[in-house]
Amino acid sequence: MAGAHSQQQQSAAAELAARTETEGLRWIEAGALEDIPQLGARVLRLPQGDVAIFRNRQNEVFALRDRCPHRGGPLSQGIVCGRTVACPLHGWVIGLNDGQAQGPDEGQVLGYPVEVRDGRVFLGLEDS
Ligand code: FES
Repeated sequence: MAGAHSQQQQSAAAELAARTETEGLRWIEAGALEDIPQLGARVLRLPQGDVAIFRNRQNEVFALRDRCPHRGGPLSQGIVCGRTVACPLHGWVIGLNDGQAQGPDEGQVLGYPVEVRDGRVFLGLEDS
């Protein structure tokens, strides 16, 4: 079974690699879905900064820069509710789909495309 799983991973990686050319994205593997706590996040430390990968109750996955647009709080330590996360510092609510601050607050944090294939999470980065 490990061979079949490995083949699935390879085909997922190949498919995503093919999309690099059309979308200008470089896809990196970011670990297993099950390693992301439900209603929480895990952090990837990348040269371009920390990226928080969130998982909600429905097992949808989202990726945002781990910096609140208010004063830089760690969104990865916030509480996920539906498709939003509440910043742990002052409670701003940020949309996980688009990184936009909700309600009266204004600001946006950079988001990244993310996909789950065969239980593995892939993050799309600008191919520059
Ligand atoms: S730093 Fe996030 S709400 Fe203030």
